Amino acid sequence: MSNVCIIGTGSYLPEHVMTNDDLSNLVDTSDEWIRTRTGIRERRISTGMSTSDLAYEAGARALQSSGLKPEDIDLIICATITPDYFMPSCACIVQDRLGAINAAAFDLVAACTGMIYGIVTAKQFIKSGMYENVLVIGSETLSKVLDWENRSSCVLFGDGAGAVVLSKASEGSKILASRLEADGSKHNLLTCSALPLHNPYVNTGVQDMQRQGSFCLPKIEMLGQEVFKYAVRTIIDNINNILNMAELTKEDITYIIPHQANQRIIEQASKTCKIPIDKFHMNLDRYGNTSAASIGIALDELVSSGKLKKKDKVILVGFGGGMTSGSILLEWS
Ligand code: UT7
Repeated sequence: MSNVCIIGTGSYLPEHVMTNDDLSNLVDTSDEWIRTRTGIRERRISTGMSTSDLAYEAGARALQSSGLKPEDIDLIICATITPDYFMPSCACIVQDRLGAINAAAFDLVAACTGMIYGIVTAKQFIKSGMYENVLVIGSETLSKVLDWENRSSCVLFGDGAGAVVLSKASEGSKILASRLEADGSKHNLLTCSALPLHNPYVNTGVQDMQRQGSFCLPKIEMLGQEVFKYAVRTIIDNINNILNMAELTKEDITYIIPHQANQRIIEQASKTCKIPIDKFHMNLDRYGNTSAASIGIALDELVSSGKLKKKDKVILVGFGGGMTSGSILLEWS
């Protein structure tokens, strides 16, 4: 019987490390505040690579680890909130650079839940019989949409990319269950604006601002404490619900890979779920919050470390702007 399996993983982080001390030269903050409130010590910041560059690097690594050739890929999905262009999609640029000439390609926006939405979308294409091999990438250059004068937000984020190859296979790390959620009534908790309407019939002042050189670039804005509460609640709900769906208990789970936003969010979820904190894989101390990339980077890291063993059950759980959330239960192979 064939399943939908993860047959390859990959990730890429820009080389430049920005420490908390580096940030304290830009805004009124300190290493101590950032570490104790978030768990973050440093993050990677792109000094030239675009979102599609990072996506290509992570995608190429995932492809190599899958053993497939670029022409075997039927679909590329790139989850991102920081594309190079409104169009073309980041996925189309990656398709060209990989030489994945048989692949359809599109971008997907689900903010920090992007990797979960991407994997579940890929799974549905494979289950329907339309495609056999799908490359899902989460890639972000969040540094270009950060307000580098706002200490409440600029200290949280970093750049990076993670990727997985999914395939219709009888052997491999299979998806046992998955779920997606959205609560659009909370869309104002976490935002990054695009362009306001402006045309010959509507004057929202954009052209005047451009002429005066005062046009504001889009930037991430958030209600931090509200996002924090949503995040804790949604991680707990997702873990409980996916365990119920799969008729498993928390004792059956070896690892949980949560979206890497804030160590305190993960610790609170761990405490409420009564799941030991060492089952939660964390790397946010080194990379901060890389939005759609975070779960793919963490999964690739866990795979590369050799910690995952055959039959281990792993939950991926994400939350983010929208608000969106979702989870995936895997049995590792
Ligand atoms: O993918 C999802 C993305 N978003 C998130 O994950 C955000 C979730 N929220 C959080 O992680 C936390 O709410 C934050 C880390 C953003 C803030 O932590 P907090 O414990 O909720 O702090 P706060 O907003 O209540 O602020 C406490 C104090 C304030 O000063 P006053 O008003 O008490 O004097 C802030 O101005 O901390 C101040 N503050 C800082 N101080 C030093 C806020 N940011 C900083 C900073 N350095 N970077």
